[in-house]
Amino acid sequence: MLAPMSGVTDLPFRKLARRYDAGLVVSEMVASRELAHGRHAALLRTRGKNQSPFVIQLSGREAYWMGEGAKIAADLGAHIIDINMGCPAKKVTRGMSGSALMRDEDHALSLIEAVVKAVDVPVTLKMRMGWDHDSLNAPSLSIRAESAGIRMITIHGRTRCQFFKGAADWEFIAKVKAAVKVPVIANGDVRSAEDANRILRISGADGVMIGRGAYGRPWLPGHAGEFLRTGIDHGDIALSEQKALALEHYEEMLLHYGQETGLRVARKHLGWYVGNIIGLNDRSRQWLAILCRTDDPRQVKSTLADFYDQQLDMAA
Ligand SMILES: Cc1cc2nc3c(=O)[nH]c(=O)nc-3n(C[C@H](O)[C@H](O)[C@H](O)COP(=O)(O)O)c2cc1C
Repeated sequence: MLAPMSGVTDLPFRKLARRYDAGLVVSEMVASRELAHGRHAALLRTRGKNQSPFVIQLSGREAYWMGEGAKIAADLGAHIIDINMGCPAKKVTRGMSGSALMRDEDHALSLIEAVVKAVDVPVTLKMRMGWDHDSLNAPSLSIRAESAGIRMITIHGRTRCQFFKGAADWEFIAKVKAAVKVPVIANGDVRSAEDANRILRISGADGVMIGRGAYGRPWLPGHAGEFLRTGIDHGDIALSEQKALALEHYEEMLLHYGQETGLRVARKHLGWYVGNIIGLNDRSRQWLAILCRTDDPRQVKSTLADFYDQQLDMAA
């Protein structure tokens, strides 16, 4: 599965991941209160044609608004609603949303119950191991969430206080797997098909969710899934295919956001596409300086094509 990542896994990215057979792609988190107040017209744009299943991730801290947001998400066509209890960002946890909810299980439960009651579609939950290493309550919260009707649980093997530091603890995820019957999805630091295999073996989880490993490699969740099913690891797609994909992705971002915003949003993706091939060094910095300096999309596209052509020549 492709992990939800605000500012990264927008519709253009999710479409590419699905094309390469990612099992599930999840919308970036949407604040339930804003959604309920109709301030999320943009969400209407986040559903692609034929994007099935369509998973909307909700964040929030009040049971009432979570329920209202969930109803709207279901009306917008969500097949699954995911509740975010994993986001570590200070601006989110200060408002007692995201991973801060793990600090008060009773309150977290009231949100889960409100969402489950509000909709007929399956409701899933994404969380971390706990707030910090003194409160690793993902197993106990998972048991209560399962009783409240949660149908699948994703665990990122870090605490909130770790943010993204240290290594994800894949063994800890096994404690959640042992505690519940619903499917458990393991998440954190999976960067290859082989990692996906190892996290499953170590955690005993039912599935794998890949976030940053898919930066500039939207094919990775699908390829990892195929490796798990068949033992065949296709690795990265061919350079010529990467060229076509990067150019198409760029075009789609301009269409999705409009030229001005699209140019800006695309820059991080261009950095990942270039960096994945030649690493982060003076050479990649030179390419990125050209790619990110101009406001002319035609120049960006021709420079991007030149970049790939040069790599193809060197590989020949
Ligand atoms: C830029 C960024 C944005 C993220 N946004 C979300 C989000 O909107 N909702 C969420 O549940 N997790 C979010 N996450 C966490 C990821 O879904 C995932 O749990 C985490 O990155 C660990 O997986 P990874 O090591 O494969 O990246 C975000 C992570 C990153 C790096």
